[in-house]
Amino acid sequence: MDAPKEIFLKDYKLPDYYFDTVDLSFFLGEEKTTVSAKISVVPRVDGGAAPLVLDGVDLKLISVKINGNELKEGEFQVGPRHLILTSPPSGNFILETVTEILPHKNTSLEGLYKSSGNFCTQCEAEGFRKITFYQDRPDIMAKYTCRIEANKSLYPVLLSNGNLIEQGDLEGGNHFALWEDPFKKPCYLFALVAGQLESRDDTFTTCSGRKVALKIWTPPQDLPKTEHAMYSLKAAMKWDEDVFGREYDLDIFNIVSVPDFNMGAMENKSLNIFNSKLVLASPETATDADYAAILGVIGHEYFHNWTGNRVTCRDWFQLSLKEGLTVFRDQEFSSDMGSRTVKRIGDVSKLRTYQFPQDAGPMAHPVRPHSYIKMDNFYTVTVYEKGAEVVRMYKTLLGSQGFRKGTDLYFERHDGQAVTCEDFFAAMRDANDADFANFLLWYSQAGTPIVKVTSSYNAEARTFSLKFSQTVPPTPGQPVKEPMFIPVAAGLLDSSGKDMPLSSIYHDGKLESVACCGQPVYTTVLRVTKGEEEFTFSDVPEKPIPSLLRGYSAPIRLQSDLTDDDLFFLLAHDSDEFNRWEAGQILARKLMLSQVANFQKSSPLVLDPQFVHGIKCILLDSSLDKEFIAKAITLPGEGEVMDLMEVADPDAVHAVRKFIRKQLASQLKHEFLNLVKENRSSEKYVFDHTNMARRTLKNTALGYLASLEDEEITELVLHEYKTATNMTDQFSALAAIAQKPGKARDDALADFYNQWQHDYLVVNKWFALQSSSDIPGNVENVHKLLSHQAFDIKNPNKVYSLIGGFCASPVNFHAKDGSGYKFLGEIVVQLDKLNPQVASRMVSAFSRWKRYDETRQNLAKAQLEKIVSANGLSENVYEIASKSLA
Ligand code: ARG
Ligand code: ZN
Repeated sequence: MDAPKEIFLKDYKLPDYYFDTVDLSFFLGEEKTTVSAKISVVPRVDGGAAPLVLDGVDLKLISVKINGNELKEGEFQVGPRHLILTSPPSGNFILETVTEILPHKNTSLEGLYKSSGNFCTQCEAEGFRKITFYQDRPDIMAKYTCRIEANKSLYPVLLSNGNLIEQGDLEGGNHFALWEDPFKKPCYLFALVAGQLESRDDTFTTCSGRKVALKIWTPPQDLPKTEHAMYSLKAAMKWDEDVFGREYDLDIFNIVSVPDFNMGAMENKSLNIFNSKLVLASPETATDADYAAILGVIGHEYFHNWTGNRVTCRDWFQLSLKEGLTVFRDQEFSSDMGSRTVKRIGDVSKLRTYQFPQDAGPMAHPVRPHSYIKMDNFYTVTVYEKGAEVVRMYKTLLGSQGFRKGTDLYFERHDGQAVTCEDFFAAMRDANDADFANFLLWYSQAGTPIVKVTSSYNAEARTFSLKFSQTVPPTPGQPVKEPMFIPVAAGLLDSSGKDMPLSSIYHDGKLESVACCGQPVYTTVLRVTKGEEEFTFSDVPEKPIPSLLRGYSAPIRLQSDLTDDDLFFLLAHDSDEFNRWEAGQILARKLMLSQVANFQKSSPLVLDPQFVHGIKCILLDSSLDKEFIAKAITLPGEGEVMDLMEVADPDAVHAVRKFIRKQLASQLKHEFLNLVKENRSSEKYVFDHTNMARRTLKNTALGYLASLEDEEITELVLHEYKTATNMTDQFSALAAIAQKPGKARDDALADFYNQWQHDYLVVNKWFALQSSSDIPGNVENVHKLLSHQAFDIKNPNKVYSLIGGFCASPVNFHAKDGSGYKFLGEIVVQLDKLNPQVASRMVSAFSRWKRYDETRQNLAKAQLEKIVSANGLSENVYEIASKSLA
């Protein structure tokens, strides 16, 4: 391998040349594809004759011309990564290249490749350089045309960005299509699709009356499964008009579903390409979670049309400018389409389960990273999910209207530009004349801030004080941190559990009024900006219970001095539903940690009756949303609890979680049984909040019950499995049966495969259910499944289901004999030769190896070392593995 080169944000330079127009012409053949590019080049400074360096990887150069004249030897250099024009003419010129590529041999699934016989592209981040020689960087924005020529019977549908302006038949059974995109775009938004596809067609009329043709393309047999995707697209288009004032800007919008795709989906201008699992759904084959994911991701990619495409990133370090903002937008969209609290709970759980560990490990990086070896490694939960939290904090600080003023100004200022995170910050600030103190640190400092808070009540003075102290833990390259600007939304509960009206707060030598325009205020946002800081509420008639960080107003770890009684009180009464859930989770985490200590001492495990009572009250509270109840009775995940331990102990955490679940099931069996009976689905599947909430609650209850050793329950779960009329219920019942090894499990798994073997998306669920199972010695099973006829290591979804699923089961992946590590180590090396992006995602499972005991550390480290020393290792895997070892 060439010595991998690290790229730094501080080295950003403006390009020497801009590209104005780009005319591409593809001849798609079975053996090879020929790409002709005609680019009008404009030097940035007049008279500059710096070399023009074009990126290009795995390309065969056929010819290169400037202003129509073929270049001769010495006038250019070609290497494995670049084409360099040594002394281009001064002034504008036309560059023409012809290259050949081999899409059918492209297993990396970036650039132009084949998926199930069809051609498709994935260019973000740096895949365009695998298509043609180009300045492959997002600050090069040009107008494109794209001509596609191919055999008509093999590839009847030819798609690219923008409008179709010409098409026709050619000699020899070929045909062509010519597409023109009127909007300037960076090359990462280029897309091409060719193949045997059919479309579901619909229309959307925008707020200004433009009629947009909507088309969702799939292989013919999948077309019936696109109804929900179309519904989602139309809902997203309407929502973006209503909430952000953003209208769609072309007469056509295409979505293509492909089975082989590294990521979720891609926002190419007017030609979004999707991983099929995020488009295709029917009640019989997709779960509620799938339906919700489709809604969110269709929204996400559509929203990119403004946040990403019309306004794009100057360089890849700014990725969160578009991704953090667009995730925030899709979260808000899903909230408005369903339950806001439940959506928030899900998003915060995701942050805690995946982003907190990343922020505390060897791959920790700021929302805007300072450097990378492979940009693909930085499409992370930090850039996406923590980035979305950063955007959310602007809204928390400015309110809905102020936030909207900020986004309006952002679009007004930067439409058609490639900009930075500061530009977004400045628009928010300037539109509101706001003081954001050192808020920009959220973009540059990695690590999850730890905020401690203690409270005291002074009965005589009728004041209540909150004392905050914060630290940001060291992360690679950042040993010392500055205090951050943390918005803490807070309210005070009186002894009856009601919110107290807040009057004023003494802070920093000043008394500030909270109440505004005569309206009582129950939640205020404290601006915590220093290492240590105190806020004192005045006119507090009785000792309150504080409800802090309402709605999870900042991505921090909050450690408060609330007692268990306070937490049970908040669980029962807080008007902020998110914080009711949160109080239950804090209690559950404490309980689990205390029992982990017991387990490690070989003391018997016990379950606090007050906890059981708290859960029971939630279960029986008919005023609560059913999906909220399901969330509130779900224990924190094993990873989340391990994350709180000095030395992570997967066996102990697993045993404890299992113990508590079983105890709850046996003590609340009657209640759980009632929930199952009362919440069975009606015949017809409806994807709306009410119906989904019923199913979720019923299936959560069923999952608890199935942990019991009980004939009657086994019968019940089998009955639910057999009578299920949709995949949500069927799969939940299957998962419940699969908890325990034995004949019932084996039979159900075999039955399920028989029923669904024709549907690869359902088969992936079947793989994932087995691979992520906690049954002892599961690695052997997973090994066997690798050679199952339905498995294919070249398909990312199958790898994520089988290998990714396995790594998600702490007991088996971290098996003390090292079998799990060895399994993953071997797979990563094999996978890397085919698809470095997928291999790199898999190798990340090793990254927190230092959190475990010495035996495990040694075993994991040995695998990482073996990987790093493998021949021909990709930069992708090298970066993750070597940083993990450092
Ligand atoms: N921009 C895409 C999204 O909507 C993700 C592209 C990821 N590509 C990659 N090579 N990692 O989030
Ligand atoms: Zn995105």
